[in-house]
Amino acid sequence: MAFFVGLHTIAAVVWVGGMFLAYTAVRPAAMNLSPEERFKLWKSIGAKFFPVVGVCCIILVATGYGMIFEALGGFSSSGIHVHIMQGTGWLMIGLFGHLISSPYRKLVRSLKNGNTQDSAKALASMRRVVGINLLIGIATILIGATGRYWA
Ligand code: HEM
Repeated sequence: MAFFVGLHTIAAVVWVGGMFLAYTAVRPAAMNLSPEERFKLWKSIGAKFFPVVGVCCIILVATGYGMIFEALGGFSSSGIHVHIMQGTGWLMIGLFGHLISSPYRKLVRSLKNGNTQDSAKALASMRRVVGINLLIGIATILIGATGRYWA
């Protein structure tokens, strides 16, 4: 259990912490850049951070179900917080899948074509998805870390 909890927590911290930094610090700081520089910056951030998030998703799912089946005695003996976390966890993974396959891909494509309007639209849509996922991520961390005391 200690091994699973350790990996699970690191993956959660890296993913949600990364979104927190992007939303609360990088986004306002990047407002000083020209639109073209801003689009390129977010494209590079995505290229570096999204593969890391992909690994975090795999670790969260593997260790999450590892804990359920190896330590908690299966679904029927897991608390309600685990069932809620499973739902919000898959929702976050689905939103991340949407982020990389739709708005991020549009940003990369529009940058290649030099289409500033499409880049701005894609970036606005990325910001919305990351904002929603950040809120769900914070709620999931709260549910995961506190659940055993109330579930
Ligand atoms: C997709 C599926 C997921 C499953 C099946 C899952 C499963 C679990 C389980 C079984 C526990 C242990 C609960 C307990 O001992 O009471 C746990 C803890 C936790 N989970 Fe998840 N989880 C998932 C996704 C996530 C996500 C996406 C996050 C955050 C981004 C997250 C954050 C946490 C945290 C912070 C804890 C508490 C660790 C601790 O300090 O003990 N989980 N999870």
